[in-house]
Amino acid sequence: MTFRHRHLLGIEPLHPAEISTILDLADRYVDLNQSTNKRSDALAGLTQINMFFENSTRTQASFELAGKRLGADVMNMAMQASSIKKGETLIDTALTLNAMHPDLLVVRHPQSGAVNLLAEKVNAAVLNAGDGRHEHPTQALLDALTIRREKGRLHRLTVAICGDIAHSRVARSNLILLGKMENRVRLVGPPTLMPAKIAEFGVEVFDDMKAGLEGADVVMMLRLQRERMDGGFIPSEREYFHRFGLDAEKLAYAKDDAIVMHPGPMNRGVEIDGTIADDINRSVIQEQVEMGVAVRMAAMDLLARNLREAQAARGVMV
Ligand code: NCD
Repeated sequence: MTFRHRHLLGIEPLHPAEISTILDLADRYVDLNQSTNKRSDALAGLTQINMFFENSTRTQASFELAGKRLGADVMNMAMQASSIKKGETLIDTALTLNAMHPDLLVVRHPQSGAVNLLAEKVNAAVLNAGDGRHEHPTQALLDALTIRREKGRLHRLTVAICGDIAHSRVARSNLILLGKMENRVRLVGPPTLMPAKIAEFGVEVFDDMKAGLEGADVVMMLRLQRERMDGGFIPSEREYFHRFGLDAEKLAYAKDDAIVMHPGPMNRGVEIDGTIADDINRSVIQEQVEMGVAVRMAAMDLLARNLREAQAARGVMV
């Protein structure tokens, strides 16, 4: 087995072989999830706590289901309702939970770097479910699994990531992963939504959708992250859709068999035309959700194996 990490905090520290290990195991969990009996005992006896300091529908549901299917005891902390409101710091909250001996901590936080900080303070294996604009590793892994299953490979593909790149942890984790696996990554969007120093990432940058989509194998659309914008980044939603929204006319520039992806939640009519999102011949958006559960099962399974190994090495009964 090639996966030697205590936590899953980002794609950055992963070796290509480790990415493949996660995806290979996830492929097996896709089969389990498609069968009537979806139960395995890979996480039996372990406690998983989901701490979401930011709203989430699919990511939280996906982690919860993944843990339950693997037999963990899963608890969702409603962080908005917890002591955070009373001014308790992130670290105090983490230490309090740590004293309850969780084995897996799934954390989403609005500040970049907050999850890494928390991981230094606890004994559990920490999974980053999205921190600010920094990373969202399980999203990039589920996107990679979707692409690999649809295209039959995860290398030498041209992937256009389009829209609000500057505020997107999904774009960041994806471009790191796709680069590690030797794909050609293009970022497409208005200059106001491109991060500074983006050229350092070895990507091509476009501010025109037709040029950016030309010959692409994969078209990945991103949500306009209004909650992270503090000024006028776009003229109007109508104008934005006209220039950067994915519709049939712009998609026609990509390869005939190009797939369309979106991590959700979608703003129909802003970054993507509803008919494209619903086109079962092009859109793999529902597959992405399906792959999400399998990838999270695989990631937690691998981290749990390392956890058990480390405990056995310390002579603790497991
Ligand atoms: C993304 C996120 O939260 O980073 N959503 C998700 O995890 N499925 C993208 C977004 O919020 O636009």
